[in-house]
Amino acid sequence: MLCAAASLLLAAWIAGTTPTAQGAAVLEPADGTVYFGAWLNLSDDTPLAFNKRMGFNASSFQMSQNIPLDPFDYVTGSGGEIDETLLEATQTNASLFLTVYPTTTLDLINSTSLTLLGEQILGYQSAPYNRSVFLRYAPEMQGDWFVYGLAPTSFLSGWKTMYTTIKSIAPDTVIVWSPNNAFGYPWGYSLSQAATTADQTLLDTNGDGDYTSADDAYSPYYPGDDYVDWAGFSYYEKGLTYPYVNNVAMPNGSFETAWIGDNDTVVTPFYSTYCETPARPCVVSEAGAAFHVNTTEGDGIGQLALEQLWWLDSWANSTFFATYPLVKMVQLFEFAKVEEEEQRDYRITYNSTLLSAFTSSLLASVPSLYQSPIYQADSSSSSDGTNADASGSASSASSTCPSLFGGAAPSLRGVGWEMLLGAVVGVLGAVFCL
Ligand SMILES: *[C@@H]1O[C@H](CO)[C@@H](O)[C@H](O)[C@H]1NC(C)=O
Ligand SMILES: *[C@@H]1O[C@H](CO)[C@@H](O)[C@H](O)[C@H]1NC(C)=O
Ligand SMILES: *[C@@H]1O[C@H](CO)[C@@H](O)[C@H](O)[C@H]1NC(C)=O
Ligand SMILES: *[C@@H]1O[C@H](CO)[C@@H](O)[C@H](O)[C@H]1NC(C)=O
Ligand SMILES: *[C@@H]1O[C@H](CO)[C@@H](O)[C@H](O)[C@H]1NC(C)=O
Ligand SMILES: *[C@@H]1O[C@H](CO)[C@@H](O)[C@H](O)[C@H]1NC(C)=O
Ligand SMILES: *[C@@H]1O[C@H](CO)[C@@H](O)[C@H](O)[C@H]1NC(C)=O
Ligand SMILES: *[C@@H]1O[C@H](CO)[C@@H](O)[C@H](O)[C@H]1NC(C)=O
Ligand SMILES: *[C@@H]1O[C@H](CO)[C@@H](O)[C@H](O)[C@H]1NC(C)=O
Ligand SMILES: *[C@@H]1O[C@H](CO)[C@@H](O)[C@H](O)[C@H]1NC(C)=O
Repeated sequence: MLCAAASLLLAAWIAGTTPTAQGAAVLEPADGTVYFGAWLNLSDDTPLAFNKRMGFNASSFQMSQNIPLDPFDYVTGSGGEIDETLLEATQTNASLFLTVYPTTTLDLINSTSLTLLGEQILGYQSAPYNRSVFLRYAPEMQGDWFVYGLAPTSFLSGWKTMYTTIKSIAPDTVIVWSPNNAFGYPWGYSLSQAATTADQTLLDTNGDGDYTSADDAYSPYYPGDDYVDWAGFSYYEKGLTYPYVNNVAMPNGSFETAWIGDNDTVVTPFYSTYCETPARPCVVSEAGAAFHVNTTEGDGIGQLALEQLWWLDSWANSTFFATYPLVKMVQLFEFAKVEEEEQRDYRITYNSTLLSAFTSSLLASVPSLYQSPIYQADSSSSSDGTNADASGSASSASSTCPSLFGGAAPSLRGVGWEMLLGAVVGVLGAVFCL
């Protein structure tokens, strides 16, 4: 089905018709399955190490870089392009979920920078890598914590230029529009902080002259159905009351509320607007629950119980995925970081107690939901990790079914989990004997 749609799009493309998001090859996994992805701290982790400790091969890994690219720093290892060879090292066809942060407002990102990005992505999509690429561009654009934020006019025009440029160079790229979830919106910002009066008009969606939680948290930044392939958001559970520094039990259903909205706290609904009309796959682009490492306040909930509440409500909640079948990818945020001057630990897979509880929860509730990507050795693959020729023809990348993921035979889908079951039973045995 997907391949047929992709071929039709290719035909339309050759005929000179403008390709639209609806017709694009969106790499949507089969119904009833979800891509399991992770965003790792590459200072002390790798995709291969993650797969090994999970006992399961993630179907996507997230990495980030800036646009324009910062120069690569040979001392700190920062800057430059992401390191695709970390994905090659997993020997799986996990997709790359590439997050790109503009370092200026979007209208100032010029075509040279966008062309370089498109060529970089096309290189990953071409032989020998043949890797599927999601591009999450300029995420969390509704606040000023990123320099491009709180500027919808610039965002909308810059986004459309980006979409058109990337698609013309690397048409198989899945372009992901991903605001921050509306919980707490507008986070104390006022209209006067917006860049222009045109921005203020866009942000005041109910036209009452004020900027409040009654204004729509997403629509000012939505570029239109033809410019979004997948939609998604960042969503974190940090506590119930500002400034979110204590460990408290989050209510069941919090994750669902993030998708459908809530009349009490005025969370703008997302699922009905951006996943169902038009129907398109959606992704939790980054998410987790913060364990406040140094606090002694709160209701005394420990790290395991806090994280468990979170994953039983989200990743390991089969009812959720049955109810919201267009949510087709999750991206685990595996970081511990200082935020608001306190240490917050979002990680689930670093602590063996949390890890085994997590994998057994996934197994118990969603045994066939997450696909494990399968590696197929490529005889033409180079072993030296050098870059593929980025100048290859864009249309050749479209000439075969571009979905590395779409063709998995149903019988293959469970394999990873069956193997994981074997691996986890031993661990569980130890845990349950305590
Ligand atoms: C585009 O932006 C890059 C990065 O800021 C800059 O180096 C380059 O000179 C710009 N190119 C043009 C044609 O303005
Ligand atoms: C929340 O859900 C979990 C898992 O289904 C359940 O064990 C727990 O009792 C629920 N908590 C409340 C307060 O309903
Ligand atoms: C799981 O998802 C369902 C449906 O979205 C929701 O009602 C429930 O609160 C969620 N959490 C748990 C722990 O079941
Ligand atoms: C919010 O309230 C409206 C009107 O009462 C209702 O139709 C809608 O279902 C409610 N939404 C949620 C998420 O409770
Ligand atoms: C791992 O998590 C458990 C459960 O919260 C905790 O008791 C233990 O101290 C943690 N271990 C480490 C090394 O942090
Ligand atoms: C990443 O890991 C390094 C090394 O453990 C640590 O110093 C750094 O704070 C971490 N960064 C984030 C954002 O979690
Ligand atoms: C948290 O506490 C540890 C010691 O338990 C300390 O080393 C660390 O600096 C503290 N972090 C913050 C952000 O206060
Ligand atoms: C990975 O590649 C294999 C072999 O080409 C294919 O069967 C599979 O569907 C691909 N994707 C996943 C998620 O396994
Ligand atoms: C990668 O793509 C090229 C050209 O489309 C093809 O010849 C090669 O077999 C592919 N490799 C894999 C592993 O699918
Ligand atoms: C994960 O991928 C590796 C490398 O391709 C493979 O050897 C292993 O069997 C896979 N594991 C699972 C659980 O599928």
